[in-house]
Amino acid sequence: MNVRLLTTIIFLMVNSAFCDINTDEEPVSSENVDSICQYVPGIKLPSRDHELHCCDLIFENYRSRWYFGAAYLTRYLDTLQSWTCPQLEEECSSRNLAFTKFSSLVYDYFCNYTLVSNECSEVVLNLLKKKAPTVSNASWTSIVKLLDSTQLTLDQLKEPCVEIALFDKEDTHRGDFQEVHGINIPFCGYVWCGFDQETILRYSISPWTCVTNKCKASTIAVTVVIAILSVLIMLLNITVIVIMRNPKLRKSQSIYKLTLAGADFLIGAFVLPT
Ligand SMILES: *[C@@H]1O[C@H](CO)[C@@H](O)[C@H](O)[C@H]1NC(C)=O
Ligand SMILES: *[C@@H]1O[C@H](CO)[C@@H](O)[C@H](O)[C@H]1NC(C)=O
Repeated sequence: MNVRLLTTIIFLMVNSAFCDINTDEEPVSSENVDSICQYVPGIKLPSRDHELHCCDLIFENYRSRWYFGAAYLTRYLDTLQSWTCPQLEEECSSRNLAFTKFSSLVYDYFCNYTLVSNECSEVVLNLLKKKAPTVSNASWTSIVKLLDSTQLTLDQLKEPCVEIALFDKEDTHRGDFQEVHGINIPFCGYVWCGFDQETILRYSISPWTCVTNKCKASTIAVTVVIAILSVLIMLLNITVIVIMRNPKLRKSQSIYKLTLAGADFLIGAFVLPT
């Protein structure tokens, strides 16, 4: 065995022996920590070392999974906050994912809560006034209390300020808040929104639900135009092929034109619709 490797192993053994003697707490082995890094609101980790280790893990995990919607930004930042992770500060200063209104408000919520009430109080209040004329001016917390997702239409629920207010309302049982991501919707960019459990079930929410009406309209319009174009191209090329098959019209270049029309036909039939 390599001498350096041996000394390293001995060093590590001595080191861990010292650590065991010097601390009352259990040593942080990666196996027992990884299983407790599942954040459950209100549950505390055994030690600061556990917390820091879990912080690293959560941070790495979210970096690799957020894009596919496999992990929620709300839950991620909530977890970083609950363990007072050093990574929260990093997230708040970089705000890497604040490229939609919803995700930007989620950052506000965990990085500077007053920003949420500044930006959203009026929006949500106006919406409540239509429902309940008695609401005059109220603080953000009282507005959130008044909010009832079952009383709102889907269009109102799609307002990012309402979504963050519903998240705030779910505060004591945040497991009920779900985010919806969409990455494959053409012309609409990255779609990102969040709802409480009841709304998700009531409207069977999908990423398409969260697409703005304007973007929906243009997606549909472009699809229709492409469909019409595709049919036209097919019809024109069929005409050319039929004419070319007539022996009287066959001239020197007719075979060449026939293949061209055939290729065009295939493009109209298969490439454009996709
Ligand atoms: C939070 O935002 C408010 C309003 O913009 C600002 O006045 C305050 O300084 C911010 N607080 C922190 C800690 O950044
Ligand atoms: C209503 O708003 C005014 C000014 O915006 C404020 O001074 C007052 O305290 C508010 N009242 C309540 C009940 O929040």
